[in-house]
Amino acid sequence: MRAELCHWQSEDVDALARLESAASPHGWSRQALEQASLAPKRLRLAMVSEGHWLAHAVFSFVADEAELLIISVHPAHRGQGLAQALIRAAIDELGPTINSVFLELRASNDAAKALYNKLGFSLCGRRKNYYRSGVADGRREDALLMRLDLKQARANTERV
Ligand SMILES: CC(C)(COP(=O)(O)OP(=O)(O)OC[C@H]1O[C@@H](n2cnc3c(N)ncnc32)[C@H](O)[C@@H]1OP(=O)(O)O)[C@@H](O)C(=O)NCCC(=O)NCCS
Repeated sequence: MRAELCHWQSEDVDALARLESAASPHGWSRQALEQASLAPKRLRLAMVSEGHWLAHAVFSFVADEAELLIISVHPAHRGQGLAQALIRAAIDELGPTINSVFLELRASNDAAKALYNKLGFSLCGRRKNYYRSGVADGRREDALLMRLDLKQARANTERV
């Protein structure tokens, strides 16, 4: 299945809400997607194939920093490089003024951790007990903060 990269907009919120609920119990609500569709200084990317929404990501950006706010891939389309492709496409599109990309993730999210490590992100902080671990229980889990140093990555590339 060949996926195409596109920018999503407010009219796509219903389809993305379905993708979010399939992708994760912690996914964004329709309302959060709606807000993201209207907010300024956001990069909203998606992968679509024959009308099916396979994956999407939202970045915010200000000055020389960007933040990955969400990335979700439909369970049936994982392990095909879609998340990696979305993040790489966003970095290209955000351009050379962006020196750092930040994100946060649940400490238990091993798939996301492996993805970000592969792309060169490194751990830069930890927020203790930041997330509720489940809907029903009162337990909490830590948030890990990660950063991709694009300035350093560019300098390394120039040196090669
Ligand atoms: C995390 C998530 C976005 C990864 O999406 P994906 O499209 O399957 O990831 P990719 O295929 O681009 O994987 C790229 C790399 O990430 C790592 N990776 C991704 N999923 C992995 C898994 N389940 N186990 C181990 N490593 C994994 C691998 O290094 C992989 O490279 P490889 O295929 O060469 O080994 C997806 O599992 C998802 O949507 N999860 C639910 C939502 C979520 O947790 N979002 C992140 C919140 S911070």
